Amino acid sequence: MNPSIRSVRRSHPAAPADPVGTAPNSGPLPGTAGPSPDTGGPFRDSAGPDADGPRRPPEPAPGTSSGGPRGSRGGPARGAVVVAFSITATTAVWLVVVIVAPHVTLAPAWRTAALFCHLTCLVVSFGAVLTVDWFSLRWLLRRERLVTVLATARGAHPLIWSGLAGLLVSGAALGPDTSSTLVRIKLLAVLAVGINGLFLGRVSDRLAAGGDGPLAWTRLVPAAAAATVSQLGWWTATLIGFWNARH
Ligand code: HEM
Repeated sequence: MNPSIRSVRRSHPAAPADPVGTAPNSGPLPGTAGPSPDTGGPFRDSAGPDADGPRRPPEPAPGTSSGGPRGSRGGPARGAVVVAFSITATTAVWLVVVIVAPHVTLAPAWRTAALFCHLTCLVVSFGAVLTVDWFSLRWLLRRERLVTVLATARGAHPLIWSGLAGLLVSGAALGPDTSSTLVRIKLLAVLAVGINGLFLGRVSDRLAAGGDGPLAWTRLVPAAAAATVSQLGWWTATLIGFWNARH
């Protein structure tokens, strides 16, 4: 039995800051009036019509379990295959970067240019992640509608992934010393961020599939875990990069 959102709220008032995470593919958008439901906040008892009248059935949004391509079109089995393939591809790209990067040596001017690109990509990608997380937090506090959070996440998707790709390329161009433990931790954090981002797509698909229905622990906990891994990975990589540049 899945506990309803009411039970979630009772025992865990401080819910995770980013149930949607940075994943863009999330879905059904509530469209009801009234102060509480209209904010789309997660702690809603949606058992049947309420004072605002019957709810509109969840609309399939692009990229969701009900309407989108990733992870769900063709069933869960195909979704799992797609995720497995994406994880393998991401890990392979990461491995190539890790193997090639230590052998790269640039002239000082080019290294400065690479560092500029690195920091620009950091601003673009991590900035987009933080924006989505901020909107998700506002949704949890009932300051934002779910539709807004989902639209923000979808819009941020290209920024996040292109920025991450740019970080990999420019980071490799900077020729990291991969014999350093801190650098290894940073690179693992980057890999974790990438794989977790793929996983977040599945997690948000599941969240979205619930639509206006009760938000169960089985959906909330993976979302909270993925959001936490994302934040830890980003901050670890940022702090180590900052530290290494000065020592
Ligand atoms: C989530 C991804 C990443 C983040 C958040 C990140 C963050 C940073 C930051 C904040 C700096 C410090 C820049 C400065 O203060 O001048 C930096 C430098 C650097 N990063 Fe990254 N980085 C990421 C990915 C990578 C990757 C994948 C590589 C290597 C393949 C890499 C290699 C480097 C190198 C070599 C430096 C210069 C350090 C030095 O000057 O000794 N970074 N990074």
